[in-house]
Amino acid sequence: GVIRSYDWEISRGYLSPDGVNRSMMLINGQYPGPMIEANWGDTIQVTVHNNLLYREEGTSLHWHGLLQKETPWFDGVPSVSQCPIAPNRTFTYSFKADVYGTSWYHSHYSAQYADGLLGPMVIYGPAHAKYDYDLGPVILSDHFHTTYYEIVQNITGQSTVTPSDNNLINGKMNFDCSLALNGATCFPNAGLSKFKFTSGKTYRLRLINAGAEGLQKFTIDNHTLTIIANDFVPIRPYDTNVVTLGVGQRSDILVKAIGNPSDSFWMRSEISTNCSHTNQPTALAAIYYEDADTSLTPQSTRTSYEIKNCTNDAITLTEPLFRQSPPKEPAFTQDIDISFGTNATGAMVWMMNNQSFRANYDHPLLLLAKQGNTSYPDDPQWNVYDFKENKSIRLVVRTIDPLSHPMHLHGHNFWVVAQGTGKWDGTVTRHENPQRRDTQLLDVGNPYDPAGGASYIVLEFVADNPGVWPFHCHVAWHVSDGLYINIIERPQDITHRQIPSTMAQTCRDWADYSGHNV
Ligand code: C2O
Repeated sequence: GVIRSYDWEISRGYLSPDGVNRSMMLINGQYPGPMIEANWGDTIQVTVHNNLLYREEGTSLHWHGLLQKETPWFDGVPSVSQCPIAPNRTFTYSFKADVYGTSWYHSHYSAQYADGLLGPMVIYGPAHAKYDYDLGPVILSDHFHTTYYEIVQNITGQSTVTPSDNNLINGKMNFDCSLALNGATCFPNAGLSKFKFTSGKTYRLRLINAGAEGLQKFTIDNHTLTIIANDFVPIRPYDTNVVTLGVGQRSDILVKAIGNPSDSFWMRSEISTNCSHTNQPTALAAIYYEDADTSLTPQSTRTSYEIKNCTNDAITLTEPLFRQSPPKEPAFTQDIDISFGTNATGAMVWMMNNQSFRANYDHPLLLLAKQGNTSYPDDPQWNVYDFKENKSIRLVVRTIDPLSHPMHLHGHNFWVVAQGTGKWDGTVTRHENPQRRDTQLLDVGNPYDPAGGASYIVLEFVADNPGVWPFHCHVAWHVSDGLYINIIERPQDITHRQIPSTMAQTCRDWADYSGHNV
């Protein structure tokens, strides 16, 4: 097959995406990072030079939603599939574009991607919907005027929401400089993203929530949105006026340009992190029809919708186009309860089954599993769930937390067989073809409900991908505070894999740099 090669230098630099100058993490000097484009079945090869020298940091890149069936070691998760790439070192990822549609890549090292270390990834596959033009990625991301390490350090006590300073579309938005932090350099009217429509044509937009925390509600004034894919899964198209995306999720939509040639409209994305919509910034981009005056801002009116809705659309609505059904009964069921609290030093921690995850950069789990090392479950902070040789797995995930969690599993498109509030009664929704994707929102629970007030999602997958796969909440601050487990899938089939020698070299480089023994 064809090889798509990219050569990237990762560095820090000052940039003003919305007018406020701040330190960002850049790829070849860019934010958002360059777009990866490939055809289904191609090999994607990315050479990463870590040039994070000003404030030295390790790094790694994860290709969100790709299955990595032949190459679990290139999944890009430090402490799981690799050691971090040390400063001044280079590492090459090489993996197959094994699914098609819209996604993104991002750093999986701490909350680095909240500083901008991310970009879009589009894999072209068989056509499953008709449209005239592909407008490409529309990246929605909440934006902060402070760096991720300042934010991560400051999350203490019981505060669960870190309000963002702004909300961007393809890395752009304006900001009212009178509200900028003391001492910040701010340039007014930084500029918005702009799109062109021709009256009567149909457009494909590839929506990506690449934010740190914010749940996005995407609308286009006066236009109907037709969803044709969720994550990497084409679905039976349906119409809506608002698309809800948790962090990590994508929806491909079709939009018919029903306006007149001189019209212009707002594209909007509103943040609804705690489902109450208070003081959360809105992202804007302008759509200009062919004869519109692009020096004027659109005067269109916001579409109204139900704000107090913190979940994805009903799983009864979202039916995959290509049928697949889970096994009648999963071989193994794992309950997972989400909660939060504080540790001994008063810092906030998030937990799954009362245990918070901590990364161990010196000993990636996959490399230990390859050596047949079974002592890893002894470290409780690694949050290892060894599902052994079980052929299929069901995860029953519950929370009573008043915040929604976008739950993401690596290495799989899981089935969402149930979601709701209260206690799951065992009913599976559309067993012959349930909703499928790689990230699903877990609705808010109600801690004040005397009946318990839990919400749940029930996810299933077939163990067809031997490896070590993180299952975590994709909110950057929740991942870095431990809302994360590692699933070991078919360890016997890991031991005989040939792992590239660059994996061990990267760990030696990391040991040299960190001074730890590997
Ligand atoms: Cu998009 Cu584990 O991440």
